[in-house]
Amino acid sequence: MNVLILGSGGREHAFAWKIAQSKQLDKLYIAPGNAGTTQAGTNIPLNADDFEGIRKFVLENKIGLVVVGPEDPLVKGLCDFFKNDPDLRNILFVGPDKAGAMLEGSKQFAKEFMSENNIPTAAYKHFTLETIEEGYQFLQEINAPYVLKADGLAAGKGVLIIDNIAEAKSSLLKMLKGQFGNASATVVVEEFLKGIELSVFVLTDGKNYKILPEAKDYKRIGEGDTGLNTGGMGAVSPVPFADKEFMQKVEDRIIKPTISGFQKKGFDYKGFVFIGLMNVAGDPFVIEYNVRMGDPETEVVLPRIKSDFLDLLVAAAQGKLSDTSIEFDERAVSTIMLVSEGYPGEYEKGKEITGIDSILDSLVFHAGTKMQIGKILTNGGRVIAISSYGRNKDETLSTSNKNAEIIQFEGKNYRRDIGFDL
Ligand code: AMP
Ligand code: GLY
Repeated sequence: MNVLILGSGGREHAFAWKIAQSKQLDKLYIAPGNAGTTQAGTNIPLNADDFEGIRKFVLENKIGLVVVGPEDPLVKGLCDFFKNDPDLRNILFVGPDKAGAMLEGSKQFAKEFMSENNIPTAAYKHFTLETIEEGYQFLQEINAPYVLKADGLAAGKGVLIIDNIAEAKSSLLKMLKGQFGNASATVVVEEFLKGIELSVFVLTDGKNYKILPEAKDYKRIGEGDTGLNTGGMGAVSPVPFADKEFMQKVEDRIIKPTISGFQKKGFDYKGFVFIGLMNVAGDPFVIEYNVRMGDPETEVVLPRIKSDFLDLLVAAAQGKLSDTSIEFDERAVSTIMLVSEGYPGEYEKGKEITGIDSILDSLVFHAGTKMQIGKILTNGGRVIAISSYGRNKDETLSTSNKNAEIIQFEGKNYRRDIGFDL
């Protein structure tokens, strides 16, 4: 089978690395990919939201399965575009339809979905400029800190957590007046959940599901979880507090009602569900849904899956996930993300990266890189994820940390304390 992966980050390199190991694979293409994905397949200069370009490529190259990495094309309706086209209809597709992708595309929609399905989450209300007085009132009713979320996609920047009520009110006004453009024309205000976060991943065919290894992501730029939020600076799997008892609660209280909620809503959901949750004194609460895998979580989750991943994706896309089983690697995996100086603010691109070939005992997943006249150059804020196996978290991290020193580029920055709180 020929496979097309859409996207260009560390997540997509990890997908490509894993799918390239499948016996079912004939040709693998990545659009647009990065310097790393060329080790597993062929890069195609197409953007993930160029629907017509994708259509042409898929038909000309007899693609049997499309795997969508990022949320954007899903929220824009790429799955529906395939379903509604007689020539594309029979091509297997991993990613939910537009209605399902709303779980990530609109926080308000996700919160309503959770309340309809009795899924534990923080108490909330949503407001627009017309109802701002009610918003101020709701802020008075709940306790600090205050959580304000832009309803729409805001590149991971649309959530503000504010200690002081006066500041919370003025931020609500600023958001509704367009701080995040149209994405914050509606704002969800919710109660603060105190606890420790966990990323849970589910592969579903809309009816059946497989729970993938869980992970903990480190989102802040600074050590000790300080400073600005990033896309993720590192991740660890397994997560010790996600023991059997806790994961059983997650499955019973969150995963099962989520999948049956998909059916009630009539979503065509063949793909990943990424549940960002908070462990509040031993009980899981959903913070957010994403309709894709996490990045850098994928760089620790996929190395822990022993089964043929393409077989699982095909089964999910065919609605036959119940016929499959999934086997995990018992070893631990951690990843450390090397980033460009200045990220998540402004940063420069085009710095030469050296030392990758000297890494023998880690998996090197490229995130923001490109190849130019035989050199590998930085091409994004997050540049390279270094994933390592080990008997436990400390062993994996010591390998990743050692290799983080070996790869060099001007302005390299990374956190040396990934996993510090576990
Ligand atoms: P989100 O984009 O919804 O994942 O929010 C970004 C981050 O804000 C999360 O990863 C959490 O660290 C934090 N956050 C969001 N909602 C809450 C909440 N209700 N209570 C505490 N922290 C939250
Ligand atoms: N690492 C968090 C995310 O992918 O959204």
